[in-house]
Amino acid sequence: MKSSILFTAFAAVSSVTAGVIEARATLARRALPNSVQAWTNDYADVNFTTGANGVFNVNWNNPPGGNGVHGRGYNRPANDIVVNYTGTFKTSGAAYLALYGWTRNPLVEYYVIESMGNHNPSDNVSATQYGCLQSDGGTYEVWEKKRTNAASIDGDHTNFEQYWSVRTTMHTGGTITLANHIAAWKNAGLLLGTQQYLDIAVESQQGAGSAVITVGTAPSTALPNTPTPTRRTARAAGTCPRSSTTGLSSTTKVTTTTKASTTTTTVATTTTAAAVTTTTVATTPVLTTFASSTSPVSATATTSV
Ligand SMILES: *[C@@H]1O[C@H](CO)[C@@H](O)[C@H](O)[C@H]1NC(C)=O
Ligand SMILES: *[C@@H]1O[C@H](CO)[C@@H](O)[C@H](O)[C@H]1NC(C)=O
Ligand SMILES: *[C@@H]1O[C@H](CO)[C@@H](O)[C@H](O)[C@H]1NC(C)=O
Repeated sequence: MKSSILFTAFAAVSSVTAGVIEARATLARRALPNSVQAWTNDYADVNFTTGANGVFNVNWNNPPGGNGVHGRGYNRPANDIVVNYTGTFKTSGAAYLALYGWTRNPLVEYYVIESMGNHNPSDNVSATQYGCLQSDGGTYEVWEKKRTNAASIDGDHTNFEQYWSVRTTMHTGGTITLANHIAAWKNAGLLLGTQQYLDIAVESQQGAGSAVITVGTAPSTALPNTPTPTRRTARAAGTCPRSSTTGLSSTTKVTTTTKASTTTTTVATTTTAAAVTTTTVATTPVLTTFASSTSPVSATATTSV
């Protein structure tokens, strides 16, 4: 995103009226969100409301340059949180539906992108792909991009990295096993710091759309998965193995690493990652890396975010 959040509020926990025992029983089944995010830049036209039981509703109609991030989620999440959500997400423009979070030390903005409009965030000359992972019945590409002098939870002029897992088939609703993504990122040398918060969020960019999402509840039926319609112009993706219908692959061979960087720190990380290239991993972490997408095909992307 062009700039970042920066507003996390905490919803009241309903156990005050529900009674302690009943609240505990509910939490055992599912954790209601306890954080709300609502941020827009000066150009955005976004309306956002929250409802009972983890619901949020967002409608947007953004001109070029508009940007907003709205959602609900969890404050200080555990790295092994399993996030459930269900709902609808519709857009003809550029927007993402994602699990979206921040860590500090290092400062990292991360996304697990579940659906998108007509722009894939990896379609950017500054993005680097590290491979693929399989989780929760889908295949995700792992991408990274550095941000400099950009807005973050620590101010408007900060340096940080963005990590993305980008689902190769889109769906709206499901379960996100964050630990699988963190393990894959770690294998690629993409380390998180201390968790601040995460949300199921809509990043609305250029164009119109609407979403109604319930955070904390998984869909009760199987959902359609549709291939990303994105035609990438600035960055092509490496070929990912197809996901199995049962979810996680049981065996993933880590073949190579592609971290292309100019910094001493990152080179050291690359060396570490390369050391595992001969290892066959029995179960998770699930990362397949490969040499690809290190040179831009062209720089003709038209979307600005
Ligand atoms: C998501 O659903 C799974 C399976 O029911 C459950 O174990 C997990 O606690 C849920 N996650 C949250 C944050 O409620
Ligand atoms: C947001 O609400 C305002 C006030 O009702 C309305 O004028 C505007 O068109 C709405 N924008 C969107 C994108 O729904
Ligand atoms: C690429 O990413 C940078 C940094 O986030 C952003 O400023 C730029 O607009 C993006 N370019 C495209 C074509 O999306």
